[in-house]
Amino acid sequence: MPNLTNTIRRKRIVVHLGNIGYHDTSTKKEGEVYYKSTLPANQIKTHKYAKRFRDIDFIGIDLKKYTQFRPKNWMQMQLDFLDGLKKLENNSIDLISSEMSVGYYTKGAKEIFDETYNRQLLNLAYQKLVPGGKLMIALTTPRLKLLRQIIIESQFPKRKRKIKLMTKKEQERTYWLQKYNAALKPEERYAYYQIILEK
Ligand SMILES: C[S@@+](CC[C@H](N)C(=O)[O-])C[C@H]1O[C@@H](n2cnc3c(N)ncnc32)[C@H](O)[C@@H]1O
Repeated sequence: MPNLTNTIRRKRIVVHLGNIGYHDTSTKKEGEVYYKSTLPANQIKTHKYAKRFRDIDFIGIDLKKYTQFRPKNWMQMQLDFLDGLKKLENNSIDLISSEMSVGYYTKGAKEIFDETYNRQLLNLAYQKLVPGGKLMIALTTPRLKLLRQIIIESQFPKRKRKIKLMTKKEQERTYWLQKYNAALKPEERYAYYQIILEK
């Protein structure tokens, strides 16, 4: 008799950091810090992916509130990146990804680069990934320069670190990847990079 527990595949778990994104500031109420997203659900990456990959569980971590429809395989935590990651089991996550979020923000969604915060984030991500799991971060050149030393000093093995230019298609993956450069004059536009770190 084959041992079924060894043959049944574990469900894959994917974490999206900073996945909610866009807000219309006119909807922000007085004194409200973490106001809700007003982006249509079908433009949020986690929504699209959770509908497409039903056999994968998705966990979003974002300070913004998300109140719209979620497929059953999408769980959303309204938390800081570090606080959300701490809630996950060690060695349990297959992929952690972020677009225009990690490397840009620190506690309270403050848009400043905090070296200690980012070091903690990379360490935590490493802890939470399964062996062979990946951390993928999409960002522009200035933020890549700021993160570079932290990546070099991280626990991710040197031979399993990749940084590559994103293709045009990849740059359409999220709302802010599309909009960030579009708001700039052509000569001011940044290159988008994809960092891939494997445990
Ligand atoms: C520029 S948006 C990017 C959204 C989406 N990934 C995209 O590319 O369209 C950054 C997101 O990160 C979230 N965020 C910023 N700082 C955060 C933090 N410290 N913890 C959790 N979420 C944070 C914001 O609420 C926002 O949803």
